[in-house]
Amino acid sequence: MTRTVLVTGGAGFIGSNLIRMLSRERPDWRIVNLDALTYAGNLENLTSVEAREGYTLVHGDVSRPADVRRAFAAADSGGVQAVVHLAAESHVDRSIQSGLPFVQANVVGTQVLLDESRAHGVERFVHVSTDEVYGSLGAEGLFTEETPLAPNSPYSATKAASDMLVRAAHATHGFDACITRCSNNYGPYQFPEKLIPLMIANAREDKPLPVYGDGLQIRDWLFVEDHCEAILAVLERGRAGEVYNIGGHNEFPNIEIVRAILGALGKPESLIEYVRDRPGHDRRYAIDAAKIERELGWRPRRTFAAALPQTIAWYQSQDVWLQRVRSGAYREYYEAQYGA
Ligand code: NAD
Ligand code: TYD
Repeated sequence: MTRTVLVTGGAGFIGSNLIRMLSRERPDWRIVNLDALTYAGNLENLTSVEAREGYTLVHGDVSRPADVRRAFAAADSGGVQAVVHLAAESHVDRSIQSGLPFVQANVVGTQVLLDESRAHGVERFVHVSTDEVYGSLGAEGLFTEETPLAPNSPYSATKAASDMLVRAAHATHGFDACITRCSNNYGPYQFPEKLIPLMIANAREDKPLPVYGDGLQIRDWLFVEDHCEAILAVLERGRAGEVYNIGGHNEFPNIEIVRAILGALGKPESLIEYVRDRPGHDRRYAIDAAKIERELGWRPRRTFAAALPQTIAWYQSQDVWLQRVRSGAYREYYEAQYGA
């Protein structure tokens, strides 16, 4: 069935992986990508799909109704059947510096997108959220969909607020929406401010690897393509109004990840530099993904043992991409199209 999907935040890490996957797996779908091209949006993530028939980029902000309307207008006369909402300010450390841009993009942006999606007759809305809305776990236990929300960073607080707005749109207006809450992703095209690509990039340049606090915080790592497959499963088969946790059964303390990266690159552990801890740092995240496994038959297909070395190899092979992101040169692409 031909359909048009509006993806928001498609020039970012997960969004660009999702658009590449949809182009491969659902070649008859049309895709409109609405992206504000913030520092995290990189059109060089999308060079392999930009010429594809049925792919349209709309440069715009999800928190501005006129921009969202332009994105709906960019679809052909058949309209937009589905929205996958990924656009967000996504980095915890930035949210600690300044929370307001997170409220604007993540909270206001989600409400604007919900309102416009309802007005444009969207049949299914998938809101891509995060396990961070649940707060922090102790040494035991897992996050289930019933775990109370207890966000600890301005980032996770705005994601929790956006989840509540999606829930309210379903409860109040009967709008067909699902929420996904995924654990930490890794893989190609991740902006090198996040743990794994930052550590790879610094290690390659023999720069210090900043480990926050004692480095024993635990994250549950999932390869980005597994996440994209889960989003597609929810888009096609999820039940309206439901939340689906997505996770990798793959918990590691940060320091072990950092050591694995150094080992794979043949770099010394003396590059590790323990630095001041992140304020409000969540100690442990771990996902119970039984619901999506049971209801939708989704399971992660890649193991960390295979996909982490593949990811490291990808960053090694993408010297130009990485250097242009690190130096800021990737913005030239943006400026050439949209002005400085
Ligand atoms: P990212 O920071 O790499 O990309 C975000 C994208 O959104 C960028 O292209 C940016 O230009 C765009 N954007 C930001 N503000 C916008 C706005 N106001 N209007 C339009 N576009 C805007 O983020 P990511 O890591 O790809 O995460 C995507 C989504 O997945 C986010 O909603 C995030 O909360 C969620 N998520 C991420 C992870 C993870 O580990 N990265 C895990 C679970 C959930
Ligand atoms: P990050 O990739 O920012 O994801 P999140 O905070 O959303 O989980 O960080 C992952 C973990 O790595 C988190 O516990 C913070 C830690 N971290 C460091 O120790 N040093 C760093 O330079 C960064 C960016 C993160």
